[in-house]
Amino acid sequence: MESQEFSRRQFISLTGMLGATFFAPPLKMAKAQTGKEASRLYQAKDYASLLGMQGFSEPLLKNHFSLYQGYVTNTNKLLESLGQMLKEGKANAPEFVELKRRLGWEFNGMRLHEYYFENLGGKRGIDRGGKLFQKLVESFGSFEAWERDFRATGSMRGIGWAILYQDVLSGQFINFWINEHDVGHPSGGMPILVMDVFEHAFMIDYGLRRADYIEAFFKNINWMEAEKRVLLHKG
Ligand SMILES: [Fe+2]
Repeated sequence: MESQEFSRRQFISLTGMLGATFFAPPLKMAKAQTGKEASRLYQAKDYASLLGMQGFSEPLLKNHFSLYQGYVTNTNKLLESLGQMLKEGKANAPEFVELKRRLGWEFNGMRLHEYYFENLGGKRGIDRGGKLFQKLVESFGSFEAWERDFRATGSMRGIGWAILYQDVLSGQFINFWINEHDVGHPSGGMPILVMDVFEHAFMIDYGLRRADYIEAFFKNINWMEAEKRVLLHKG
């Protein structure tokens, strides 16, 4: 079955197309799985409720949803292929090694988009009496200082993510720049607020005006979702 095997041709295209999203269509494979295998596969979530959000056009969002679905598909394919190779005693093969390297990129491409879409669609500002607000003031001196730092992080040249992380061991809140999907994550960090600054996240609507996109992002932050993430930890 094409969906369960990783052919040499696919491997070549996988290792040769860094930065591109490939393997389509999404979701088909996950639905085709049964039993144990199906339980470890990821399912793309539906974020259609975000359509109509002010400052984000339908073509931009639909394009973005498709990209996200591609990451889910690829994560599943990689996990499947790696598992299969392990079973076949090919864990030292260059193919296994390269796919293993790729896993962090695809997995984070999937998961970060989920955090991003889920911290959008909000209708009100941050709760100034809540734990998140208090933590931002403790870590940055003021909410405004946090916001300046976060906007500056998201404005950096390059493609990637601006992420407010909670360092769950120290309790500190720090904004991080994540290059692409996989470089720069703090170990043991909980993503609290995630902003996509790949060009696909804004160019359809804003061209090179990233600051305008960041403005639109801020108008639509789902602060309740971000607050929920903080409460997952006691720190
Ligand atoms: Fe994206």
